[in-house]
Amino acid sequence: MAGFSGRAEKKTALLTGASSGIGKAAALALTEAGYRVIGTSRAAGTGDVRDGIRLIPCDVTSDGSVRAAVSLAHAELGHIDLLVNNAGFGIAGAAEESSIDLVRALYDTNVLGVVRVTNAVLPIMRAQGSGRILNIGSGLGFIPAPFNAHYSGTKHALEGYSESLDHEVRAFGVRVAVIEPATTRTSFESSTVPSDAPLKAYDVSRERYLVAYGRAMAAADTAESVAETIVRAARDKKPLLRYPSGKAARQIAFARRFLPRSLFDMILRSQFGLA
Ligand SMILES: NC(=O)c1ccc[n+]([C@@H]2O[C@H](COP(=O)([O-])OP(=O)(O)OC[C@H]3O[C@@H](n4cnc5c(N)ncnc54)[C@H](OP(=O)(O)O)[C@@H]3O)[C@@H](O)[C@H]2O)c1
Repeated sequence: MAGFSGRAEKKTALLTGASSGIGKAAALALTEAGYRVIGTSRAAGTGDVRDGIRLIPCDVTSDGSVRAAVSLAHAELGHIDLLVNNAGFGIAGAAEESSIDLVRALYDTNVLGVVRVTNAVLPIMRAQGSGRILNIGSGLGFIPAPFNAHYSGTKHALEGYSESLDHEVRAFGVRVAVIEPATTRTSFESSTVPSDAPLKAYDVSRERYLVAYGRAMAAADTAESVAETIVRAARDKKPLLRYPSGKAARQIAFARRFLPRSLFDMILRSQFGLA
């Protein structure tokens, strides 16, 4: 097991899904910024250190696994100053093409996973009288693009949950924010689960969507750039509620806010090749 030195002085962070992509980059960036970090992975053993990151086992869909992970992290770190709820995955397909079981599994990880880990960490932060929670949302948490209905639903849910929670826990010295990355080059694409009830009716528009997705991937941000946003949100004296990460996310957040709805709708449909 990795030992930590400088226990009293350093801020501490717990990150879910730190085995790859944004979570891994954020774990490394937070360590570099002076945090003592523990990350989680479903595949971790109890004594793992991988690429310099202390990893403990946690499946965010299991109440028991989350309780055990938070208790182990708290015991090792002594306090938890920062929680990054990052674990998540996507479904590829039209809304109608996914079974209820698949959609339930998505919400269980992307939404209830965040609720489970947050509920396990909040008593610790309330007792400390301080803490910060960063939920990894998405540009799709404010722009519901086609062929992403369920994923987009989970990320919209995180937006509402985070804003409500921030109002409730501020009195305890705890603040909550959402990080909103645009398309980012990680293992996300390979861990995206294909819809389990494909329909021929969507073949043409799905193909067009895939072309648009390919374009977005070609211009995708790096996990390291999202990690920089996470470090900034962790350290901001007066945290914002939302942190769009990268140029594309900031541009679409601006367009969503200020363009007339009909114009926004037209631009979005043309981007995805929809008539
Ligand atoms: N990549 C993008 O384009 C993009 C854009 C916007 C937002 N995001 C969000 O960013 C977050 C990180 O995604 P990523 O792009 O870095 O993808 P990734 O490389 O696939 O990483 C996903 C992480 O989530 C963990 N995970 C998945 N299911 C889990 C579960 N049930 N319990 C615990 N951990 C679980 C995985 O860990 P193990 O498999 O080791 O358990 C892995 O470390 C996600 O919330 C995603 O929605 C991604």
